[in-house]
Amino acid sequence: MAAAGDQTHFGQRTVRLDEKQSLVNDVFRSVATRYDLMNDLMSFGLHRAWKDALVAKVRPSLTRPFAHVDVAGGTGDIAFRVAKAGGPLTEVTVVEVNSDMLRVGEKRAARRAFSKRLTFIEGNAEELPLPDARFDAYTIAFGIRNVPRIENALGEAHRVLKRGGHFLCLEFSRVDLPVMDRLYDAYSFAAIPPIGKMVTGDGGAYRYLVESIRRFPSQTALCDLIEAAGLERPRFRNLTGGVAALHSAWRL
Ligand SMILES: C[S@@+](CC[C@H](N)C(=O)[O-])C[C@H]1O[C@@H](n2cnc3c(N)ncnc32)[C@H](O)[C@@H]1O
Repeated sequence: MAAAGDQTHFGQRTVRLDEKQSLVNDVFRSVATRYDLMNDLMSFGLHRAWKDALVAKVRPSLTRPFAHVDVAGGTGDIAFRVAKAGGPLTEVTVVEVNSDMLRVGEKRAARRAFSKRLTFIEGNAEELPLPDARFDAYTIAFGIRNVPRIENALGEAHRVLKRGGHFLCLEFSRVDLPVMDRLYDAYSFAAIPPIGKMVTGDGGAYRYLVESIRRFPSQTALCDLIEAAGLERPRFRNLTGGVAALHSAWRL
């Protein structure tokens, strides 16, 4: 439980810890129906390659039962990829806090052949409505940055994974190439909010996105948080020079 004075960031603003989730929810409520289009425009389609890299690490079984949970699953992109990559006994649970995003995901899922192997649940990453030690793999893509208490979400990942279960987190991160970092900064602050305004009508939502990326822990700081949650052998791999990073760890 947060103490009354506990603070965090919502983009560049300092806000009360217990206020952040509803501000985040407003952002995703406002962009839900144009979210997928915006991802393509903003990242020049790169988010697809990053998501493929994440799912390549999940490696769901083609023959045996495989229980997967995708947290902050949004409109279902990761869940669809895992279900498609796995065999008939691969089951994917999507947990998403925002009913508008979840609804878009469910609608998209209805059109897929593997929809029976997907379950959508409204729930919070910090308090997953799921049993202990249930899953072979846990993913969270571009989600953990939005969660007010990252350490609670990581603790929950540890709790719901089986022993030997794989934790994978895809998130925007710190660019580590000298010229590219300045180009990326200029592009993201000058171009993303106006594109967001044009496409979704909400430039503020995309200003939050850009600012929240700058506030998010670095690659190594996130490894430390993952380890502090009890997950073992944390590692990361930079994607596109660190624009995004793929972290992995294990529950052993
Ligand atoms: C940037 S979107 C990512 C969606 C999807 N994973 C993807 O990669 O396209 C972030 C998602 O995190 C969800 N989210 C934010 N806070 C959350 C929380 N505490 N628990 C679960 N989901 C949360 C938002 O509602 C939103 O759908």
